[in-house]
Amino acid sequence: MDKIIIDGGQRLEGEVTISGAKNAALPIMAATLLAPGVFHLGNVPSLADVRTMGHVLRVLGAAVEHHDHSMTIDTTNARYHEAPYELVKTMRASVCVLGPTLARLGRARVSLPGGCAWGPRPVDFHIRAMKELGARVEIEHGYIVASTEGLRGTTMHFDTSSVGATENAMMAATLADGATVIENAAREPEIGALAEFLRAMGADVRGDGTGTVVVEGGHELHPADVEIIPDRIETGTFMVAIAMTGGDVLIRGAKLDHATAVAMKLRETGAQVSEEDGGLRVRGPVWPRAVNVTTAPYPGFPTDMQAQFMALMSIADGSSVITETIYADRFSHVPELKRLGAQIGLDRNIAVITGVRKLSGAKVMATDLRASAALILAGLVAEGETEVSRVYHIDRGYEAIEKKLAALGARITRLKQ
Ligand code: EPZ
Repeated sequence: MDKIIIDGGQRLEGEVTISGAKNAALPIMAATLLAPGVFHLGNVPSLADVRTMGHVLRVLGAAVEHHDHSMTIDTTNARYHEAPYELVKTMRASVCVLGPTLARLGRARVSLPGGCAWGPRPVDFHIRAMKELGARVEIEHGYIVASTEGLRGTTMHFDTSSVGATENAMMAATLADGATVIENAAREPEIGALAEFLRAMGADVRGDGTGTVVVEGGHELHPADVEIIPDRIETGTFMVAIAMTGGDVLIRGAKLDHATAVAMKLRETGAQVSEEDGGLRVRGPVWPRAVNVTTAPYPGFPTDMQAQFMALMSIADGSSVITETIYADRFSHVPELKRLGAQIGLDRNIAVITGVRKLSGAKVMATDLRASAALILAGLVAEGETEVSRVYHIDRGYEAIEKKLAALGARITRLKQ
């Protein structure tokens, strides 16, 4: 397993380009199953999770080619309906093939995803959405087994907003007979990107980005081409890295309107964030002020930025409170940050961070995608050498992060094991 070694203390300066959004690419790849033919996707990031979704599509009978951020998917022969445990257990987002496969083939057998480092990741909302659309759904031997003679449009309501369940419902509804109204739908930019792709395929989808999505089903869909939107979590991760190192960087391709909550919080710490040259110019403060954060569904502060922001608060002037409201226990980065000298107290879903002037380098272990990003950010400012192990976690969601950071002046290398 590869390791990443960082010698801390360098300011980040220069320019960096954001890659395509993992969490837009994955559902869009699944959506190609709704129609037979050849699709061209641009700005597709080269990530482990994207490769995994490519494998899932191949198992379902599609042909997938991915070279240099361009992907071609041919779903002409996508006539299989089973997504196996071996693949789904490695990536929960595979469950997004449930809606398209069920809608197009009339049946689907998708493994339950299992849990992850911070607790169970249920899919009950996904299952209920398929049932609301008229499908028969059973859980058999760890698989979701769904079938239908034809989905029917309906009105459904999610108790709490769910990105994946909204995506599955939207995709399935495009082939249902009649109109579907999805209430309390997720509003993330990736939902909008998926909706735009579905419209390009000939679907009638409206209201994406608001809390209510309306899908007029029954349209024959056809292949379409798409450019994947920039990754707002990679954007936020680099914004925090620049703030932590007191740097000055132009983040090319970053969209402020997809990162508003993070930008506002960083401005509260004393960082400067402004739009420039179609991207974002971020300048770090001399010493960041402590600010409180509560994660929330979009447009609130993203849970996927919670660990990275905690790394920043670890070296802030003062004490801060970070409240995680989306997941029960998304704090596996806390013990590792404490090994670097951070002072953090935990009480259920609330972390209290007392900023310290200096972190000190140490050996730490990545436990999940965003936690590993937080450890790399902390290593950028820690005194001496930080060694992050199990970096396969970070390769799931960040394309060559060590190369991008090194190009900005960080002393960071990957040790291939
Ligand atoms: C998406 O996951 C993202 N993944 C996650 O990003 C992100 O953390 C999450 O949304 C929240 O923003 C992708 O888009 C591929 P949810 P998803 O359904 O769809 C509960 C990353 O780092 N829930 O919005 O799985 C769930 O447990 C990843 O890139 C149910 O209870 O998240 C959570 O508490 C990590 N039942 C809350 O809802 C369900 O059926 C929100 O989950 C589904 C979800």
